[in-house]
Order: sequence, then C-alpha cells, then structure tokens
Amino acid sequence: RLQPTPEDRFSFGLWTVGWQGRDPFGDATRAAVDPADTVRRLADLGAYGVTFHDDDLIPFGSSDAVRESHVKHFRQALDATGLVVPMATTNLFTHPVFKDGAFTANDRDIRRYALRKTIRNIDLAAELGARTYVAWGGREGAESGAAKDVRAALDRLKEAFDLLGEYVTTQGYDLRFAIEPKPNEPRGDMLLPTVGHALAFIERLERPALYGVNPEVGHEQMAGLNFPHGIAQALWADKLFHIDLNGQNGIKYDQDLRFGAGDLRSAFWLVDLLETAGYAGPRHFDFKPPRTEDTDGVWASAAGCMRNYLILRERAAAFRADPQVREALKASRLDQLARPTAEDGLTGLLSDTRAYDEFDADAAGERGMAFEHLDQLAMNHLLAAH
Ligand code: GCO
Ligand code: MN
Ligand code: MN
Ligand code: MN
Repeated sequence: RLQPTPEDRFSFGLWTVGWQGRDPFGDATRAAVDPADTVRRLADLGAYGVTFHDDDLIPFGSSDAVRESHVKHFRQALDATGLVVPMATTNLFTHPVFKDGAFTANDRDIRRYALRKTIRNIDLAAELGARTYVAWGGREGAESGAAKDVRAALDRLKEAFDLLGEYVTTQGYDLRFAIEPKPNEPRGDMLLPTVGHALAFIERLERPALYGVNPEVGHEQMAGLNFPHGIAQALWADKLFHIDLNGQNGIKYDQDLRFGAGDLRSAFWLVDLLETAGYAGPRHFDFKPPRTEDTDGVWASAAGCMRNYLILRERAAAFRADPQVREALKASRLDQLARPTAEDGLTGLLSDTRAYDEFDADAAGERGMAFEHLDQLAMNHLLAAH
C-alpha cells in the first residue's frame, strides 16, 4: 500500500540524490555518483522518472564525443529500467560566468551564451522525451539597488522566454516551460520571487499557453507564504505544469528537506489538494539528503519522500471519505462557497430586497463557522488518532 509504483508518478532530480553535500561552509561528504546508477536505484525504489540539469549529466565544457558517451550511458540505463525523463532543466548558476545571472545578466554576451546553452539542452530534453522544461532563475537577481534595473531585466527575461518559446514552436517540440520561483538564495533578492509574480509575468509573454509554473514547497515558505494556497491559484489558472516537493521549516535558508520533513500540516493539505484537484503531472522531489548521510542515508531519505507522500495521500483520502467530515464541511458552509454568488445576475442581485434592505447583518455576524471542529477532524486523520 505504501510501496511506490510507477503509477504514482514519482520523479527525482539527478542533483538531489546525487548531491555530495558541498555547502558554503564545508566540503563534500559523499562521493560523486554515476547517473546510470541513480537511474537503477530509483527504478528499484518504485520511482517512474528522473530529471536533470545539462551539467548533471554532461560535465560542463565536455567535448561532443564525451557528451555523446554520457548521453548513451544514461539512455542505456533508462532503456534497461523503463524509467522516463519527464523534465529537464539548465544549470545557469554554477559556473562563474553566471555570477550576475543568465537571461538577465547585465553583460549582453553572457545572456546570448545562456540562451544557447539552454537551447542545446532543450534539444536533448526533446530527444529524451521530456514534456516539461523547467526554468529556475538561479542567479537572476541582485544584492544591491543600482546593480539591477529590474524593469529592464524583466524586458530581457521576457525576451529570453519568447525566444525559447519560438524555438520549441518552430522545432515542433512537444515541450512546455515551467518557471520556478524563489525569493532569494543564491542571490540576495531574486526576480520572480513567488508563484504570484511568475503567474503575472507569464501573461506578458508572446505565447502564454506555453508557460506554467514549477513551484517548490520550501521556496514559497521561505517567503512566508502558504504553499497550498499558491498551488491552488496555479491550478485555478491552469498553470501547474510541474511541482518540486520537499520540506522546509519556516522562513530561513533553503532547507530542501525530504518531503514531509518540514511543515507537516501544510504537506497534508498540499497532498489533499493535488489529489482532489486531479493534478496529473509528476510528483517531483527536489530535496537534498543532509550531508550527515552516507549512501544508505541518501536512499533512506529518497524512499522517505515517496513514503510520506503515500501516507499523506491515504490520510487525506480518509479525511475526505469520513461522514463526520462531510457533515462538518457542510456546517462550515463549504457547499455555499462552491455556489455562485449571483446566479440571478446583477439585475437579480439589485432587485433582491433580502440581499441588503432586509438582510440581518448582526444575526449573520453571530453565526459560528465551526472551522475548529473541522480542522480537528483533519488533525485526527493526519495523526491517525480516532
Ligand atoms: C533550489 C532550486 C533548484 C532548482 C533546480 C531546477 O532549491 O535552489 O529549487 O534545485 O529546482 O535547479 O532548475
Ligand atoms: Mn529549494
Ligand atoms: Mn526546485
Ligand atoms: Mn532545490
């Protein structure tokens, strides 16, 4: 029951389980891993997909021949295991050339290079069958005020996404872009810091239908926001193309904990939302097994991500199926929220004397909402305490 299968659509980035534990304060604590081994290990654990940055698969600066051999080796592992590549992305943040950003670097030649690097990996993504191309603005941002003209930078960001959209369209690739917001880290302040900023930006692009979002649990929480609310708005706008699941405890550095290991109540509501809304995309884990862990710890952490999702899925389903919960939802008048406010139109509203003249605001203000009882039922299910 809690054993992941490919139907659960769990995927992992090569850079997650492959993270060697290098951080701003310390060296690597784990050896580098062969992407093909990662593919086999993920398949054994019950995942269905693997994702990558160009440089995770092909070391930066490799010759064409070396590049080919890395891709071939990876492909063989995919073919042998049946694992798929649902998504790919570009590393536009590690090399010093990107220290002031990529698509919004002040240096024009760096912007042109970043676009070419991205296009090169889009070709590989399409070749490997990816349907989503993630764009996280790793170093698009600034540490000081005059360093970045944000309006000009947004013009350049739009220009970059429009060119990439034109490229996939003219190539006939079945690939959509998912923009990943993050408020800060590694830059002091980043462009498109939240889901809301990204959604608004997308509407300014030439082909808005080609772009959606890839929200990450911890990133919205770093901004102090309610992640399920952001996801709900992305779903409402038909823009939830992909999702990065992990764990975060409050407003601090990007913790990238395993899924479920952060704000557990928020994780419960997130799974409830994804499952009830019928989100059909990958459940992608973008986490970092802490650098205290050895190889066994890394795979325990990866298995934990999937297990926690499945536990929460079971608990959320039980919550929704519970007759007491159905009653409580009604008592809290969720059925009324689902009903249009004025099926009778503006004319009906204006001519309805009960809506205003005869409305007893004091009496309505006295009605309890019964939310506490409803939320306690959710807690009972989350904690399996009945
Ligand atoms: C982060 C980001 C990255 C991106 C990844 C894909 O935690 O800083 O989430 O992990 O998701 O680079 O572009
Ligand atoms: Mn993160
Ligand atoms: Mn991410
Ligand atoms: Mn991450």
